[in-house]
Amino acid sequence: MTATFPARALRALTLVLTAGAAGLALADDDENKRLNINHPEYRSECGSCHIAFPPALLGAESWRAMMAGLDKHFGSDASLDAETSAVITKFLVANAARRDTAGSDGRPQLRISDTPWFRKEHRDGHDGITPGIFRSAAVKSAANCAACHRNAAEGDFSERDIRIPKNGARS
Ligand code: HEC
Ligand code: HEC
Repeated sequence: MTATFPARALRALTLVLTAGAAGLALADDDENKRLNINHPEYRSECGSCHIAFPPALLGAESWRAMMAGLDKHFGSDASLDAETSAVITKFLVANAARRDTAGSDGRPQLRISDTPWFRKEHRDGHDGITPGIFRSAAVKSAANCAACHRNAAEGDFSERDIRIPKNGARS
């Protein structure tokens, strides 16, 4: 099993991303870019420090591993009580990418922004991505999806809503 997403074409990518999302009614191409984050506890508990990332962008094992280590969450303590944690884990796993997102060491990857799919889709030169943009003052981190995807907080990553800030400048 390989961990790479077959991102040959936008359509293929979109199909893969949404394939694991249960209960998504997909109307047209643009609707396909809307990734389910429709869960109140998830949005409030996991959408306070950063956007509520779409579950479909990581595999189930990655989400399980992340939820098992919330006390040491990227340098933050994001601990939850056992009940809330169980409810959120269930939502994440049910909507996870169908393929697993393991790193080269075989361990589940915890960052969407480290997955082969993400790196390919956001490589230098692709659709306005300029070298260093992710570390620029305006973006700061690849995890800061909303710096470019203006409706990321709503789970919407449609191309028409992407605005890439000028390198180093404020958006
Ligand atoms: C106390 C603040 C806080 C809370 C609450 C929190 N996180 Fe995070 N999270 C962070 C920080 C800080 C990072 C690292 C951001 C960066 O690298 O720019 C992060 C990164 C992430 C990433 C990796 C982003 C990427 O692709 O680089 C994921 C996925 C994630 N969090 C999921 C969750 C989930 C799921 C929850 C709820 C259980 C949650 N977070 C709750 C602070 C938080
Ligand atoms: C520096 C700007 C920038 C940041 C930050 C960024 N992206 Fe993107 N993203 C882009 C660009 C540009 C594309 C390519 C759009 C295309 O294919 O035409 C893209 C494509 C995508 C796509 C595919 C959209 C499509 O139409 O097929 C998804 C999903 C996505 N990004 C998710 C994320 C997530 C999740 C994060 C944060 C963890 C993120 N992006 C951070 C600029 C960014």
